[in-house]
Amino acid sequence: MCGIVGYIGDKNVYPILIGGLQRLEYRGYDSAGIAIFNEDLKVYKCKGKVSDLENYVASKDVHGTVGMGHTRWATHGEPNDTNAHPHTSMNGNFVLVHNGIIENYAEIKSDLIKKGIVFKTETDTEVLCNLIEFYYEKGENVSAELAVRMALSKIVGAYGIVVFCKNEPDKLIAARKGSPLVVGIGRGEYFLASDATPIVEYTDSMIYLNDEDVAIVSKDGLTLKTIQNDPVAFKVTKVDLSIGDLEKGNFEHFMLKEIFEQPKTIADTFRGRIKADQSDIVLGGLIDVFPKLLAADRIIIIGCGTSWHAALVGEYMIEEYARIPVEVEYASEFRYRKPILGEKDVVIAISQSGETADTLAALKMAKEMGATILGVCNVVGSSISRETDGGVYTHAGVEIGVASTKAFTAQVTVMIMLALKLAKEKGTIAPELYGSLIRDLAEVPGKVKSILVKHPHIKEIAEKYKDAVNALYLGRGYLFPVALEGALKLKEISYIHAEGYAAGEMKHGPIALVDTNLPVVVVAAKDSYYEKIVSNIQEVKARKGNIIAVVTEGDSHLKEMCNDVFEIPKSHPAIAPLLAIIPLQLFSYYIAVLRGCNVDQPRNLAKSVTVE
Ligand code: M6R
Repeated sequence: MCGIVGYIGDKNVYPILIGGLQRLEYRGYDSAGIAIFNEDLKVYKCKGKVSDLENYVASKDVHGTVGMGHTRWATHGEPNDTNAHPHTSMNGNFVLVHNGIIENYAEIKSDLIKKGIVFKTETDTEVLCNLIEFYYEKGENVSAELAVRMALSKIVGAYGIVVFCKNEPDKLIAARKGSPLVVGIGRGEYFLASDATPIVEYTDSMIYLNDEDVAIVSKDGLTLKTIQNDPVAFKVTKVDLSIGDLEKGNFEHFMLKEIFEQPKTIADTFRGRIKADQSDIVLGGLIDVFPKLLAADRIIIIGCGTSWHAALVGEYMIEEYARIPVEVEYASEFRYRKPILGEKDVVIAISQSGETADTLAALKMAKEMGATILGVCNVVGSSISRETDGGVYTHAGVEIGVASTKAFTAQVTVMIMLALKLAKEKGTIAPELYGSLIRDLAEVPGKVKSILVKHPHIKEIAEKYKDAVNALYLGRGYLFPVALEGALKLKEISYIHAEGYAAGEMKHGPIALVDTNLPVVVVAAKDSYYEKIVSNIQEVKARKGNIIAVVTEGDSHLKEMCNDVFEIPKSHPAIAPLLAIIPLQLFSYYIAVLRGCNVDQPRNLAKSVTVE
């Protein structure tokens, strides 16, 4: 969602801000702006892309060595020039950028209006900016920092903010609660950002702020404290991210690059975790909590979107092999539906970003209720990973495309390893099967490669279906989550309405949709459900639906029956999701490109949903 970048030092700030905003584009946004101080404060902002902002400021004065930039994903107030950030306070003393939602803004705003403060925008952010100025002007000897802390103590909601005060131009003040913020440390310079991507080309030394931390940065140093003014000790983390990770290379889109990275990223996920002789699995981040996992009455896996689909694969596998009851919950439902939780429950949050607001809040709730909480995250140092008692990083590398691809296969890889390890420790899996599943997993990267080389064929099939209005995706067993994920990929980037269904549910409603225009994508690899899914295909065929099936190589029967097929190599059913999703990712990608859609930044979507 919104992206923040800030800088104070000796460098010309404009290229840092614009370059940073470009790197933040992947988060999703509808307007952009910058504020630069150089004797006076200049604020430039507009609706649209960062390139629109660049055009807008082309003839303006952008000199200065301190400033902030923002990409806005609208929550309060429509996306337009006025509502774009940075926001300035009524008397122009403060300028501020904000990521998050201020829940009690209406109440504060009406109080401030009664005190004569005039608002220019519809945003919650302007309310915070004016509240800071109100405290600054009202008290005697109130510094900018104190005014910020006083205002934040009145705020209910989530924020990551960077604040500048015209009368104290030698510093930037940053704070976070619920929305991520990182401080980058340079030589005589500091960077502020909502994640590492916009600043990694300048520094790899970062401090991830914790909730209610306030950082005051100047050319001379950094002070970290709480909103209550207590000093905070900080930990500097070295971020392992290269510029190449943030660029498309020879690929037309990040999504395509990330799809093609999967042979490597899946291997990176299990590297060092599958023993060299492929006889065992070691999950270092879970060693301390493994006894709790083994003794758990129940495992609850929470997540949103794609991560929720990966959780479903985990549920099927843990229950089948480790025989521990598992529930999978949408984090957004779980956090509000008053679930029953206790000390014998283990809650695992799956999240690529580690910042999804609902997942983070659900996890904190589970912690308060006494459950052991674990994380499966991709972004190292993210809020979820820091909140948990233990966890597993997916090591998929930075994912920039809004449509999650390599993160999904990495999450599923972790679920497979976790299920197998639990099963082994519980003694619920035969040693031969344990060993053979580990070997199957180790073979996945090679098999994924063999699917990727068939991309021209997948593109041809995409051409045939690119004008579809609706699509139905069906799967059973381990391939049901793949059907859900395939449908999500298609709808989010091509805007074709797509439904994922358990194939057995088809006759309970979705079959009514089947006609000569409806593409029905059936994930039908050879497993114990095969005969049943073949019957489902017959039922669709009898109603003249167009069937595109993901089939196991050599399945001539389905090849004859279906209009089009994507072949995947033979594998164990529990491993098959890692293969079956690949052609579906490419299918969605090509359809979206052929329809002229913005694949990496689909409309209305944000990479990481940091507000609920
Ligand atoms: O960062 P997270 O894994 O917590 O994100 C969860 C969802 O927002 C995410 O998977 C979303 O559904 C993607 N756009 C799917 O491609």
